Amino acid sequence: KQLLLLNGPNLNLLGTREPHIYGKSGLEEIESELAAFLKEEGWGLKSFQSNHEGALVDAIHEANQHYEGIIFNPAAYTHTSVALRDAISAVEIPVIEVHISNVHNREAFRRESLLAPVCWGQIAGLGTLGYKAAALAFLEEDKRKDD
Ligand code: DQA
Repeated sequence: KQLLLLNGPNLNLLGTREPHIYGKSGLEEIESELAAFLKEEGWGLKSFQSNHEGALVDAIHEANQHYEGIIFNPAAYTHTSVALRDAISAVEIPVIEVHISNVHNREAFRRESLLAPVCWGQIAGLGTLGYKAAALAFLEEDKRKDD
């Protein structure tokens, strides 16, 4: 079993981008830590980051049926993208929306997510731990289904 970790625009700059908001960990470090966490449970992880909306739409389409779910930080597209919302609605696999920062205590425009209503859940404000929390949700849900 495997998960897809999808990261949207500007998240390739994690570690150097506004570290007071997004922390000091780089994306590669986040990816390898998450992969190691899942590996202990016998699960795989594939990671993809893009600054382009259409590439993220393609990645969601391609993930369908090949992964148990998607851990998705859509970054700024969270607040703007009807195309990504429709892509999530179009596929069968569940998506968890993750934000490193607490989008609810920042600028007003970050409070609205066009994607959250079509996601399984949303995690915000836990820092990069949010990615791990999302992975844990998929693992636990999988165990629950087997019971
Ligand atoms: C973000 C929050 C978004 O509002 C912002 O545009 C990002 C990162 C987060 O992880 O906190 O790029 O998704």
